[in-house]
Amino acid sequence: MTETRPEAPTAGVALTAIGVAVIRARESRRPDRLYDDPLAQRFVDAARRSYGEEGAQRWARLEALADTFFEGRTVGVRLVDDRMVAAVEAGCRQIVILGAGLDTRAFRLTLPADVRFFEIDLPELFAFKEPVLADAVPKYDRTVIAADLREEWSEMLRAKGFRADVPTYWVDEGSLGYLGRADALRVAETLTELSAPGSQFGAGRFHVDRNLPHYTELGRLVGGEHHGEGRDLSGLGPDAQNWLTAHGWRTSFRRWDDMVAPLNRPAAIRDAEVGLILAIRE
Ligand SMILES: C[S@@+](CC[C@H](N)C(=O)[O-])C[C@H]1O[C@@H](n2cnc3c(N)ncnc32)[C@H](O)[C@@H]1O
Repeated sequence: MTETRPEAPTAGVALTAIGVAVIRARESRRPDRLYDDPLAQRFVDAARRSYGEEGAQRWARLEALADTFFEGRTVGVRLVDDRMVAAVEAGCRQIVILGAGLDTRAFRLTLPADVRFFEIDLPELFAFKEPVLADAVPKYDRTVIAADLREEWSEMLRAKGFRADVPTYWVDEGSLGYLGRADALRVAETLTELSAPGSQFGAGRFHVDRNLPHYTELGRLVGGEHHGEGRDLSGLGPDAQNWLTAHGWRTSFRRWDDMVAPLNRPAAIRDAEVGLILAIRE
């Protein structure tokens, strides 16, 4: 690995991406791993170095949170892997990852060679991610779009080669929940406009109790406006399925517990309302 000292986010929502990398690195070390993400450990090591001695306490809090979220989040990674493969098999040749964080699917999944990846996230995230990946070679065409999803991003996406006439798989893996409802719906409107027939979008339906201690701690660590008191942070919200249907998507719902059952991990939630809304553009 090249000797780089990229600066890892120590606050703000971009920090949450490091927590997920900690989770993926931990999973990748298991003999019974659900996926293998060797670059995750590289991100973890680079971030730990960047936090330094003065950041040791924050790092310990980040790791403790990653442990708390591990069981639910790690099976989620595998579910998105499987959904991505299925969407590509169904004909999607572009993949846009909204709030991509330290996602490395362009480096690790086995897909047809003509698949193109577009990763959207905040500039401070890519300022850390790209130097760490400097000598890693993606298996597919991979383009990053450093943009705030709350602002205009579709022109940047098009300017970087995205084609609205090619079926696209849109990924939201724990990112739209950080946007307020109005912003998340605007993202959904934009991706709807950009979706050729056959495009797919997986929207999670979760009940998040922001008063639980681990969410309070996450909010404290992230700081700033994103987890501020009183903000409506539930992404597309409980009405997502109706919204998608009304906007030209054919939807179906899969229960979380049914999806995770074959993975044999203690990740059941026992709430029939929680799961994935799979939307296919008509
Ligand atoms: C919990 S992380 C998930 C990252 C990645 N999807 C994964 O599963 O590893 C949330 C990500 O959303 C990104 N994010 C949050 N708000 C954003 C915004 N307004 N614009 C762009 N990205 C945003 C953060 O920077 C972070 O990388």
